[in-house]
Amino acid sequence: MSIDQAVRDQFPQLQRRVRDRRLVYLDSAATTLKPMSVIEAVRRHMSEGAANVHRGAHFLSDEATEQFEHVRELARRFFNAESKNEIVITRGTTDGLNLLAHTLGSRLKEGDEILLSQMEHHSNIVPWQLAALRHRAVVRFVPVLDNGALDLKAFKSMLSAKTKIVSLVHLSNALGTLNPLAELFTAAKSVGAITVADAAQSASVTPLDVRALGADFVALSAHKMFGPTGVGLLYGKMSELEKLPPYQGGGSMISEVREDGVDFLAPPHRFEAGTPPIAEVMGLGAAMEFILEIGYEKLKSHERAIMAAAEKGLNALGGIRRIGQAPEHSHVLSFLIDGHHPSDVGAILDEQGVAVRAGHHCCQPLMRRFGIPGTVRASFSVYTSEEDVRDFVAAVKKAKDLLA
Ligand code: ALA
Repeated sequence: MSIDQAVRDQFPQLQRRVRDRRLVYLDSAATTLKPMSVIEAVRRHMSEGAANVHRGAHFLSDEATEQFEHVRELARRFFNAESKNEIVITRGTTDGLNLLAHTLGSRLKEGDEILLSQMEHHSNIVPWQLAALRHRAVVRFVPVLDNGALDLKAFKSMLSAKTKIVSLVHLSNALGTLNPLAELFTAAKSVGAITVADAAQSASVTPLDVRALGADFVALSAHKMFGPTGVGLLYGKMSELEKLPPYQGGGSMISEVREDGVDFLAPPHRFEAGTPPIAEVMGLGAAMEFILEIGYEKLKSHERAIMAAAEKGLNALGGIRRIGQAPEHSHVLSFLIDGHHPSDVGAILDEQGVAVRAGHHCCQPLMRRFGIPGTVRASFSVYTSEEDVRDFVAAVKKAKDLLA
């Protein structure tokens, strides 16, 4: 497994000691650590370049606007989008999905169907449930198979002329399952549905070529791809984006406001009311550059090697129930120690300086489907080392022994 010490060295937080032990950070699916280049981009804006954007009355504002729009162009390349106007700056995946549920949702009629899956995060369920309530539409869930893969046959059989929106997670935060979105979206398109991808977990390991995916919309968060919290991206195909009404109102999204009416700007600005998270956008730009510089080949091969080592280590312990072993899965390892609550296991790992997440991972329908309260989830990233995996497996062994 070739982890470059030079890559680890870019993440200052890895120097921290937790509970007087070296930090073993295995919670990258909750948020990734941040490299120096991202920290520096945020610092630079805050300490040298603070100014508002799109209100260019002076040098600093023009400079910030240029840098901000440069990030939008970088995002266009990141998504292989046709135009930078297809890139909306959001507050994160949840914000992007709420934007879509409100605006696309406003077109729904009684009996129209929104197709999701049982492995969705609450952020790709609740906004659609709210839209369905408002418009008397129906939310349906594609089942998940025992191995954590999506039931593709069921998916295809659930599509019909009633299906108006298909919104699916690209990579499950709880199972690690990587869904074959290109195939699923081709089928969705055959019934005329709008396709939405939740790419929160996939952006750090898989290229997001929106044309190859056949996605009308893709939402992601910067903080799960080495960037800051509070900022994200929403890709929208222009022919679909321009059909959407505004989401939030405020400054920067209008061309004219009168006492008797208002005219809105074209996308993407129509969807960017108020001052955006400017420093965070600078950090997001540095995060995309970090990913593109390392390259997805390396990100993927490292993740695969780490995952294989961790799976081998856990399997050797015995008494472990894995949740999520779809043929295509990535960087998320969910499990239970037979007969023990995930929170108890998580607490014992924490005592040993191993940071994991334990619980339902904001995927209660999925946990219900497996008949479990939650899982212990270790999630890996480009900075995860062999030593981290060894410490993780040793900590799980200790938890097993203590709980026996
Ligand atoms: N959605 C994040 C996770 O999976 C917070 O942990």
